[in-house]
Amino acid sequence: MLTLSRLEAGISSSERENVNLTQLIQEIVADGNFEAQGSGKSVRLEASEDFFIEKADQLALRSACENIIRNAIRHTRPGTAVDVLLRKDQSSLLPQVCLCVRDCGPGVPQEFLVPIFQPFFRVKSTPDPGGPSHTKGNGLGLAIAYEAVRLHKGSIVASNLSPSGLEIEMRIPTSPS
Ligand SMILES: Nc1ncnc2c1ncn2[C@@H]1O[C@H](COP(=O)(O)OP(=O)(O)O)[C@@H](O)[C@H]1O
Ligand SMILES: [Mg+2]
Repeated sequence: MLTLSRLEAGISSSERENVNLTQLIQEIVADGNFEAQGSGKSVRLEASEDFFIEKADQLALRSACENIIRNAIRHTRPGTAVDVLLRKDQSSLLPQVCLCVRDCGPGVPQEFLVPIFQPFFRVKSTPDPGGPSHTKGNGLGLAIAYEAVRLHKGSIVASNLSPSGLEIEMRIPTSPS
């Protein structure tokens, strides 16, 4: 709650620093993959290069990416992989990095693709995959991700994949390379 309130107020919890997002994601993916293996799942990373975010709040970025990747691991079907892609965003004029997280779970009903970023919002129809108690949610993860991305002047959207699965795309301005 405190993390979310701070982020909503635009207050950084840590010193603003130059953050290597690629390295940060590598760490989160390695931890996530280790945890996922317990339920026959995996997390794969494809990163094209090192991406640096200037004057970044490292803790906020970590928390955003962890929440998104943890959700994907939680919801992807047993035996499937979560794909994490980190690449240059070709669609914008300013240098931006795009982090894309895709799972093979049930996705989210179309009308909830925007509300899932609101605090305490949880889709009731989504079967709860259960799992260890520390992975049980409170409906704050994506709200924290949303605010963390906003703090870095980026954007975040969710969409459904075909035949099934959820994709979260997060875009953040980077230092020119
Ligand atoms: N990868 C995903 N696949 C399916 N549903 C998801 C996924 N990520 C998030 N959701 C839905 O969005 C809701 C909000 O996510 P979040 O804010 O992280 O809360 P929590 O994980 O604590 O429930 C979840 O309760 C779930 O219904
Ligand atoms: Mg969550």
